[in-house]
Amino acid sequence: MAVREILKMGDPRLLRVAEPVREFGTPELDTLVADMFDTMHAANGAGLAAPQIGVNLQLVIFGFQHNARYPDAPQVPETVLLNPVLTPLSELTEEGFEGCLSVPGLRGSVPRYARLRYEGVDQYGIPIRREVDGFHARVVQHEVDHLLGILYPMRITDFSRFGFTEVMFPDLDPGADD
Ligand code: NI
Repeated sequence: MAVREILKMGDPRLLRVAEPVREFGTPELDTLVADMFDTMHAANGAGLAAPQIGVNLQLVIFGFQHNARYPDAPQVPETVLLNPVLTPLSELTEEGFEGCLSVPGLRGSVPRYARLRYEGVDQYGIPIRREVDGFHARVVQHEVDHLLGILYPMRITDFSRFGFTEVMFPDLDPGADD
């Protein structure tokens, strides 16, 4: 297990469309998932996508009981999701602030579908199918965007609600966002 380097916005590897995972339950995949959790936890992240550590596979992880970067967010179950497919369950969208470990020090308000279904498999190929809303739905959409080469600033429509975390959220634990 190891903490990997997180690529930052501007690196062209963050703009690629990720390849589907075709082999499950392999030692290589187990190591990759363990490294991703180590990396996400070291950075206090709510989620991480494989392309953020330079691995161009359709693999995201997310979840937390309590997250220092999003202290008001309800808990999200710890999840390993491969080859995901998202289906919005209504046209309704919600604005909410997001950050990204690849865009350190910044937050922006991003419109996301309020309710959706996500489907995929875990690292052993076991199917996952959930219907979610709120912050859980937001995290999934943010992470799956990474698999499409999309970073959250590319989704912002109101740039008056985009800025430095320390300015917009001065009460947030300074160690919670780099
Ligand atoms: Ni991100």
